[in-house]
Amino acid sequence: MEKITSLAKRRGFVFQSSEIYGGQNGAWDYGPLGIELKNRIAGAWWKEMTQLHDNIVGLDAAILMHPRTWEASGHVENFTDPLVDCKKCKSRFRADMIPEENIKEKKCPDCGGELTDTRKFNLMFKSNIGPAEDTASIIYLRPETAQGIYVNYKNIIQSNRMKIPFGIAQIGKAFRNEIVTKNFIFRTCEFEQMEMQYFVKPGTDEAEFNEWKKQRWAYYEKLGVKMDHLRWHQHGPDELAHYAKDAYDIQYLFPMGWRELEGVHNRTDYDLGRHSEYSGKDMQYIDQDNNNERYTPYIIETSAGLTRNVLMILCDAYDEEKVADKGDADDIRTVLRFHPNLAPITVAVLPLMKKDGLAEMAQDIRKELQEDYATDYDQAGAIGRRYRRQDEAGTPFCVTVDYQSKEDGTVTLRFRDSMEQIRVPKAELAARLRQEIKNYKRIK
Ligand code: GAP
Repeated sequence: MEKITSLAKRRGFVFQSSEIYGGQNGAWDYGPLGIELKNRIAGAWWKEMTQLHDNIVGLDAAILMHPRTWEASGHVENFTDPLVDCKKCKSRFRADMIPEENIKEKKCPDCGGELTDTRKFNLMFKSNIGPAEDTASIIYLRPETAQGIYVNYKNIIQSNRMKIPFGIAQIGKAFRNEIVTKNFIFRTCEFEQMEMQYFVKPGTDEAEFNEWKKQRWAYYEKLGVKMDHLRWHQHGPDELAHYAKDAYDIQYLFPMGWRELEGVHNRTDYDLGRHSEYSGKDMQYIDQDNNNERYTPYIIETSAGLTRNVLMILCDAYDEEKVADKGDADDIRTVLRFHPNLAPITVAVLPLMKKDGLAEMAQDIRKELQEDYATDYDQAGAIGRRYRRQDEAGTPFCVTVDYQSKEDGTVTLRFRDSMEQIRVPKAELAARLRQEIKNYKRIK
């Protein structure tokens, strides 16, 4: 993880928030390559959920919601972690994350000082809205994006004539006052989620749940993730969230071990039932194709962390490889083997020399490719070093313009994964890249 964190900073993927002030715990900034990667991961998920499903539509709900939302959802009462403090060194721990003996003996795992009793700590960030700071002005930062979907489900049925089963997808920020925020961007206080809520008829929920499990697994396969680094984990009774009847996590083998990447949850009619109770509005679905049968839909939720997916894709792509292309058998190259559809830069154009018109020719090629691909241009330093810089950024293709290009109009196309180089006529470059991206298969 240290190597990934350091590469992420060095190459402008992710920076610590407010670094010049010593950093802000639990918050990270996405740099030029990081925002491109995050946008592409979000784009892939959005396409999968909305474009490829006729019955799923999108939504972008506000982060600030009426405070009753969080009473209805159960978050005010139940969204807590067990917490203990050390009276001596003032460290704070999640009681379920330190050895049981320490809890029993009330002994701090860091300094041996006395621990407080375990108490419930609500993870929601609380603030005030408006000029007065009283109980009537309390507002929460949403701890999940899902509730914005539930409170809009009737609006969407009416405005978009949706019929059950149907889904609503949303990508957005969520906030949790996490006590433990180690492991880079894995668990943070400010993060992004990609959530889809699928509204189904009660009784069909178990079949739909299984179907969504299959679809989410297939999605990661399509992204080119190492499938032996993914596994399912079913929640036991003491892990189930307060709203869930059944829940499975897709876990990924991160450098610190198997950890949750995404959850698939059967939330039953809990959320809509509670919103109905707390708002006094009827949240039932009226099935006009079935004698106006009324029922409160069950919800199957697929909930993935976008920022956690960024970390997963970085870990999955990271590779160090012994190469001998500079005549040194111990030479190691660091390479990010992103799928071309996710890579922040798809193609880098490099003139072998700045002089003799090569730079101008390379600039022209870049301009042509720019319309269809995310490009980079680099003319600084030895060509081998420039290839390595692109390998570290995860750029799958480099195009090099040399003296032969001036003579016969061909350029060198260099592949990141195999380091193979072929000559391609300049005019065929865009089409060749399209074909290479379509047929891309990871070789390592
Ligand atoms: N709406 C259901 C829900 O929020 P969750 O299991 O608490 O369920 C879903 O969160 C996903 O959101 C997780 O699988 C994880 O990818 C991401 N996530 C949750 N808490 C996070 C945090 N503190 N930092 C980064 N990602 C987080």
